[in-house]
Amino acid sequence: MSEGMLKDKFARTIRDLRISVTDRCNFRCFYCIPDEDIVWKRKQELLTYEEIILVAKIGAGLGVHKLRLTGGEPLVRRDIEYLIEELAKIPGVSDLALTTNSFELKDRAIALRSAGLTRLTISCDSLNADTFKTITRRDGLQEVLDGIEAAVKAGFPAPKVNCVVIRGLNDGEVADFADFSRATGVRMRFIEYMPLDNGHQWDRSLLVGGREILQKIKERHEITPISRDTPSETALRYVFADGAPGEIGIIAPVTMPFCGACSRLRLTADGNLRTCLFSMVDHNIKDRIRRGDDEELIRQFMIETVLKKEEGHRINESDFVQPPRTMSFIGG
Ligand code: 5AD
Ligand code: SF4
Repeated sequence: MSEGMLKDKFARTIRDLRISVTDRCNFRCFYCIPDEDIVWKRKQELLTYEEIILVAKIGAGLGVHKLRLTGGEPLVRRDIEYLIEELAKIPGVSDLALTTNSFELKDRAIALRSAGLTRLTISCDSLNADTFKTITRRDGLQEVLDGIEAAVKAGFPAPKVNCVVIRGLNDGEVADFADFSRATGVRMRFIEYMPLDNGHQWDRSLLVGGREILQKIKERHEITPISRDTPSETALRYVFADGAPGEIGIIAPVTMPFCGACSRLRLTADGNLRTCLFSMVDHNIKDRIRRGDDEELIRQFMIETVLKKEEGHRINESDFVQPPRTMSFIGG
C-alpha cells in the first residue's frame, strides 16, 4: 500500500483521522450537547474496538499518520487504554492524541501515557467555578485542573488547553487563561464558537473573533508569532515575548477559515465517515464492515469518500445550514 493516497478533489491530502469513540459525556456543555434529553446510541450501534482498529489500519496504509480520539468524552468508554495500545502499534501512526474534558484524567493520565498516547488536548472554558458550571452544567473545575496537572506529571508534552470563547460568558477570562499558560506551561488554544449545536444556541453575536481574542491577550502581555508546525495546523501560534513558558494559539474557523489546508477526516462513534465538521451527509462504513466487505473494498470506500470532501464550510454564506449533528456526536 502506498503513502498519501487519500487525496480529495481540491488537492488536499488526508493525514489526520479523528475517531469519536462514544457520543456519551459526563459534562453537558451547552454548545456541544443540545440538552439533558439526549438519546444515547446503543452499544450495538457503536463501532467495536476491532472495527475502529480496522479503519485506522486501512487509513494508515493510505497515508494517515495522525489519529485523535475524541467523543463525546473518550475516557467514559470502557478500556480506552486497550484501544490506545492497539492503535499505537499500527505502522505509520506517528501521532496518537486524545481530546478530553479532563474530569477523570487525574487517575488515568499515567495509564494513558503508558498505553502509548503521545499527546493530550484538554477542554477547559473557564477558570471560575461558577462560569465553569454554567457552561458545562457540572461542578468540575477542580477535577479538570487536577487532570491538567496530572497530565504534565505523567510526562506528556505540554498539553493543549481548548477554550471556546463565548461573548458574555468567558470572554473576560482570555487574559487570565494567558496567565494560566505562563504559570503551567500549557499551550492555550482559543477557539471561535462554531454553529454546531444543532441550531439551539449559536448566534453570531455570541462569537468572539480571533482578532478580538488576540487583542485581549495583548492588553496584558506582549506576544510574538511563531510559525506553524505543519501547513494544516489550525492555530495561529504565539509565544510570550518575555520568554515565559506557555503558548497562545488562536483557532478561528469562522473569521479566518483554514479549510484550504484541511487534512482531516472524521469517523463517528456509530461508524460513519464525515468529510467535514459541517457536512450534511454521513458515509456509513460500519454497514460495509458488518456485511463482510473485505479490506480492499473498505479501502476503496475510504478513497471514494474523501473525493466527496467539501471545499470548505459555508458558515459565512447566507444559505448556511447547521449540520443536524452536534459536536458531541461528530467528534472534535
Ligand atoms: N464551537 C467551538 N468549539 C466547540 N467544541 C465543541 N463544540 C464546539 C462549538 N460549537 C470544542 C470543545 C472541545 C473540542 C473537542 O471541540 O470545546 O475542546
Ligand atoms: Fe476541514 Fe470542514 Fe473544518 Fe473546514 S470546516 S477545516 S473542511 S473540517
